[in-house]
Amino acid sequence: MSSELTKCLWLHFFCWSLIAGAISPFLRASAGDQSFLEMYSSENSVKWCRRCKEKPSSCSNQSICTSNCGTSVPCERPGDTCAAIWRKRGENVTLETRCLDPSQEMYVPHFKMCMMQKREELNETTYMCSCTEDECNNMLYFALDFKPRQSDARGENGEMLYSGLCKFCDVQESTCNNQDTCQSNCDRTSICEQVGEVCVAVWKKNDTHTTLETKCHDPKLSLHDIMLEEHTPNKCLMKERKVSGETMYMCSCTGDECNNVLIFSEESKEWQEMIPKVMLISLLPPFGIAVVVITGFYCYRVHRRRKLNKEWEKDVKSMKHPNMDCSDVHAIMIDDDRSDISSTCANNLNHNTELLPIELDTLVGKGRFAEVYKAKLKQNTSEQFETLAVKIFPYEEYASWKTEKDVFSDVNLKHENILQFLTAEERKTDLGKQYWLITAFHFKGNLQEYLTKHIISWEDLWKLGGSLAQGIAHLHSDHTPCGRPKTPVVHRDLKSSNILVKSDLTCCLCDFGLSLRLDPTLSVDDLANSGQVGTARYMAPEVLESRINLENMESFKQTDVYSMALVLWEITSRCHAIGEVKDYEPPFGSKVREHPCVESMKDSVLRDRGRPEILNSWLSHQGIQLVCETITECWDHDPEARLTAQCVAERFDGMEHLDRLSGRSCSEEKIPEDSSVNTK
Ligand code: ADE
Repeated sequence: MSSELTKCLWLHFFCWSLIAGAISPFLRASAGDQSFLEMYSSENSVKWCRRCKEKPSSCSNQSICTSNCGTSVPCERPGDTCAAIWRKRGENVTLETRCLDPSQEMYVPHFKMCMMQKREELNETTYMCSCTEDECNNMLYFALDFKPRQSDARGENGEMLYSGLCKFCDVQESTCNNQDTCQSNCDRTSICEQVGEVCVAVWKKNDTHTTLETKCHDPKLSLHDIMLEEHTPNKCLMKERKVSGETMYMCSCTGDECNNVLIFSEESKEWQEMIPKVMLISLLPPFGIAVVVITGFYCYRVHRRRKLNKEWEKDVKSMKHPNMDCSDVHAIMIDDDRSDISSTCANNLNHNTELLPIELDTLVGKGRFAEVYKAKLKQNTSEQFETLAVKIFPYEEYASWKTEKDVFSDVNLKHENILQFLTAEERKTDLGKQYWLITAFHFKGNLQEYLTKHIISWEDLWKLGGSLAQGIAHLHSDHTPCGRPKTPVVHRDLKSSNILVKSDLTCCLCDFGLSLRLDPTLSVDDLANSGQVGTARYMAPEVLESRINLENMESFKQTDVYSMALVLWEITSRCHAIGEVKDYEPPFGSKVREHPCVESMKDSVLRDRGRPEILNSWLSHQGIQLVCETITECWDHDPEARLTAQCVAERFDGMEHLDRLSGRSCSEEKIPEDSSVNTK
């Protein structure tokens, strides 16, 4: 790939050099081309000339010859020119080449090139030339018409001033059409008579003839009633001129024989050729870079997906080892009755402008900020659908939606004991703008509702309690079960109505509207500003008195552990392994009113150091005893003394078989009610 790139860059550089080379004559011409002017202003002296004595030659006086003289000599005198003398005596032709002192010898006009001029001499035909460039007497130009100049054609020293050489055939029939370029097909080159004359070509076409006129022309005068104003150096650019009854193109140029090639559509052709090249050359590097970047990104994604898939396979295998459960990684296994969310969508934000085809069903919950609906995600075939939960936040509760969405958007949060998130959407409805969170739906509803309606077994308690602790431990953790780093999150509003019961009777946490990501960049001020939040009934003592240790992020986790202890108590209070099971009551149920305020909770929790009651009778069951010890350690007044959620989860892991060791089977005995103990 890199050699391709190098080639591409070289090509780019090369092409730009070519373009620069191609356009430079235009630039130079527009700036006034010096080289053309220089032809007429070099000094009339040479240092080297061809030097061969008179010898037989095959050169005819019809065209251009080379001298066939292989010797060059330095000229002796400053101001010398190079000369050639062609003689014909009878049928014999000879040629002599040498240096010439123009002041000493008979006058011959000198030019840069050796222009052979005829001299009539006795019994012989002689042509002679004198020129002012080193070795210019090697090429002898016979074919040019030499016309004597007017009076102003001589320089100060009597030398002939040079003016241009032009094709000069006057008007000829032509086969040239007015496309691209044509040759003049004129075999006569003429030295223009007047200094300042330019070469011109006039192409005309009427019904019967196409003609081409080539000649020298004084640009001060009109040609076919047209004044020629622009003369291009060294090439003749044909321009169409308006004349009635025929098509006429004209060009004028400066430079020897520049009217030999007639360019009809050079500009457009050049541009036509140049535009794709320029575009190609300019677009190639960015296009190449884009291809490299996209390919790189694609390879990275494929590589990453493969790697994650391997991890996932490994994780699935390791699921047999409970401490290495990596099932959070990719598998989306909705436990529930029928609420399977296709894995492709889970834990994504809906960046598509297209909204999911969702049909709302019944209202299943109403919280502080939002309402929760059971909903159908319609499949392609009209009959099929998946059941989902849609939490709808009104426009004013954007902040709460955003908090929850941001927490859910962390893929590392995914865990079987945390509500599975599908996507977040912004919807415009007749009622105005709404914010939606779309998640898995759990038919058993929330834990509070479930405990209200059901008395549970020890096994259920063990599953509900253990999974609750696992969910919170994962929430608080700074890594996933597979060791990937993760931002710890605190829920700050844990309570039985914010916990859902899955079909396998395990818990999953929901309602993260008050949660806080414990980003290490959060300052003490940020944490202080996050305020006293939650539900007063479940608030830890330090939250009730707003005395959280903001210096230590663990303090926030400790408040969650306190709330978890109250929920574990609620679960235990409904397990028939405790003995007599009363109707469901929330923690502090009879002590405070339905929605206690912070102040009344302060009285119970801080002033009276009160905690929900754990009766002695509960403790006859070994498992319940251990659970109650755990609960007591988790609602300790001193936050630092509380267990971590991870520790609680591990304790539950170790309790699985305690039921069998229990001295009393759950359903057998009833414990007398008065033997209550407060284990706080
Ligand atoms: N109540 C709140 N969220 C719910 C969900 N996802 N499933 C069922 N009931 C709910």
